[in-house]
Amino acid sequence: MINNNLVIIFVLAFFLTLQNIPTLKAQQDDVYSGLGAIPSAQTWYICSKQETNYINYKMKVVETDQTPTQNFGINVQGNHPLQYPGILGLLTYATNFTGIQLFIDPQAKFSIYWSDLSCFDFPALECNRVKDPPFEAKTIICLGISNPQNTEQKFTLSISFVYGVLPLPLPTVSPKQTNTTSSIPSTSKSTPTNDIPENPPFFYATNNGFSNVMSNINIIRLLLIIVVVLLSTIFIISNN
Ligand SMILES: *[C@@H]1O[C@H](CO)[C@@H](O)[C@H](O)[C@H]1NC(C)=O
Ligand SMILES: *[C@@H]1O[C@H](CO)[C@@H](O)[C@H](O)[C@H]1NC(C)=O
Repeated sequence: MINNNLVIIFVLAFFLTLQNIPTLKAQQDDVYSGLGAIPSAQTWYICSKQETNYINYKMKVVETDQTPTQNFGINVQGNHPLQYPGILGLLTYATNFTGIQLFIDPQAKFSIYWSDLSCFDFPALECNRVKDPPFEAKTIICLGISNPQNTEQKFTLSISFVYGVLPLPLPTVSPKQTNTTSSIPSTSKSTPTNDIPENPPFFYATNNGFSNVMSNINIIRLLLIIVVVLLSTIFIISNN
């Protein structure tokens, strides 16, 4: 009887693990998407986890009250970007690991980047770039975004470092609440609607979807515990 239960548990555990393999594989891809925020004159960046020969990204400046995606890229002081009075938007720099280190070092006198993969000459409200055909050699590829504006700027970014994998569609965000001149009568309180939009799944920069993997493992654990409890209950009942 005990052996039978053990067999059932192992079979279930095996199938549960098997079910999760495709998800785990997908999350290991160097593909990221989310909402970021950069304080004035600062820099945000993201790098490929593995060496790659490809970068494909879409960046769009957005105005929203939504909080930025957690663990999506890294904010640093960086080099103070040039100001472009009257030109809205952000500057993007596609570069390698050496380049990003120079870029985020406030002491560095220069940086290197691929100009054809960057929106570097003027701030841009949108910037889409792709390296196709890919580079011949593989290296760590990074994207730095700096904010030349006087105020914090938010952006959505979808980026793929995997040749053959397109970036996800840009996440949709709820537009910033704007003040209307007409005052809202306190009696007609509108029922708040759930204004959190349905976003595509986020892949995080610092942990490469590890939190998702962890939660999957937790679900497996939970299911296993339930199964064990159920089986032991059955076992106890059938023994009585
Ligand atoms: C980055 O690119 C520069 C310029 O091509 C090169 O000198 C440097 O070795 C590269 N660094 C890495 C880590 O690939
Ligand atoms: C609306 O305007 C008031 C006063 O001008 C300001 O304090 C408030 O923050 C504004 N709200 C939004 C959502 O912009």
